[in-house]
Amino acid sequence: MTELGIGVIGMGWMGQVHARSYSLVRQRFPDCGLSARLVICSDNVAQRAERARDLLGFEAATTRWRDVIEHPAVQVLSIAAPNNLHLEIVEAAAAAGLHIFCEKPVGRTPQETAQIEAIARNAGILSFVGFNYRWAPLVLHAKRLISDGALGEITQYRGRFFSMYGSDPLGLLSWRFDREFAGYGALGDIMAHATDMALYLCGPVKRLVSNAHTFIAERPLPIPGVGTHYSRGAPEDPKAAVSNEDYVGALLEFENGARGTLEASRSIVGPKNQMAFEINGAKGAINWDFERMNELQLYLGEDGRGDGFTRLVAGDRYPWHGNFNPGEGSGLGYEDMKVIEAWQFLRAVADGRQRAPGLADALAVAEAHQAMIRSWNSGAWEAITSMRLD
Ligand SMILES: NC(=O)c1ccc[n+]([C@@H]2O[C@H](COP(=O)([O-])OP(=O)(O)OC[C@H]3O[C@@H](n4cnc5c(N)ncnc54)[C@H](O)[C@@H]3O)[C@@H](O)[C@H]2O)c1
Repeated sequence: MTELGIGVIGMGWMGQVHARSYSLVRQRFPDCGLSARLVICSDNVAQRAERARDLLGFEAATTRWRDVIEHPAVQVLSIAAPNNLHLEIVEAAAAAGLHIFCEKPVGRTPQETAQIEAIARNAGILSFVGFNYRWAPLVLHAKRLISDGALGEITQYRGRFFSMYGSDPLGLLSWRFDREFAGYGALGDIMAHATDMALYLCGPVKRLVSNAHTFIAERPLPIPGVGTHYSRGAPEDPKAAVSNEDYVGALLEFENGARGTLEASRSIVGPKNQMAFEINGAKGAINWDFERMNELQLYLGEDGRGDGFTRLVAGDRYPWHGNFNPGEGSGLGYEDMKVIEAWQFLRAVADGRQRAPGLADALAVAEAHQAMIRSWNSGAWEAITSMRLD
């Protein structure tokens, strides 16, 4: 049994999810020979750090994130703090030789992501990025069908991430709505998932045209350390300006000739957490939507002629599902994807082998996003260009 010492920085939603996921790796993947030791967690709000220690089983808690990196028993680090801290934390982790699992968006801007990728690459550490929707068993099945050529040549790809978290004008102005802390808005926060999925399933993008918009210009101020980005204020609460975008849309041409669209909105009314894609090939088609993560719509027909879509239901015939529930039809949820993700990261560290999605994948997403940002300003089609730094 290989035991890996874990440190986590930022004990809000994601930090807690990472900690629980590491703890479950051994239970869900008992043959992997890996176990996680939760060494130390950090949050600048002492109560959050201490509560995470007590509830999740860390040996220690601190309000100073550098204590996590300096702890002699920490071998791998999860970065689940707000985006403005990622660069500084990666710099310190890379200098200490720690392997990192960084939440998306890696940087506040595409340039910051490129900086972080270069720092980690030059330090020779292993990286992993929280593009967790890749790990849904039916998404893994879709990837295999595409790789095996079951859909034929891909002709069209439509990806979207429609979230409700900013749809209420009284939704609090959490750090996500503040350019200084978050960087870009819907682009980094949710389009990052949709773009990664498009690159993963359909391949590199050649050029694109894009626009962005902020629908809700101001929001009530939050109380630091209390609530999440789903929390609401009251009409009489003091308000401040939103400084990044609620919506991003793009029209794409992929290098393989496929045409497509990507759309992300955090203030849309109707969808709740629609991280979804629709893919059409010459011989078939696939639709998947995280709101129904345990279903996949599949159309297979010779020469594009078939009887319509078949509904596949999640079960242990699909990758890793059986590590959670036996048989078919007992569905998985969000945190189950995070457990598969944590296992993939820990096995990469144990094997000393970089696996995907790592910072190279985050850089590819950043390059597509930089083209979107250029297009917001130029109003024109923009080619994807390399942002890789030495
Ligand atoms: N992969 C996904 O599906 C997913 C989902 C949600 C969030 N995220 C990403 O995870 C990261 C965290 O998001 P979240 O939703 O958990 O945010 P959150 O606001 O719930 O948690 C962030 C935590 O970091 C703490 N923090 C702030 N400054 C700190 C400091 N100096 N040192 C230590 N801790 C500090 C805050 O007090 C808070 O507890 C972000 O990068 C976000 O984009 C990814």
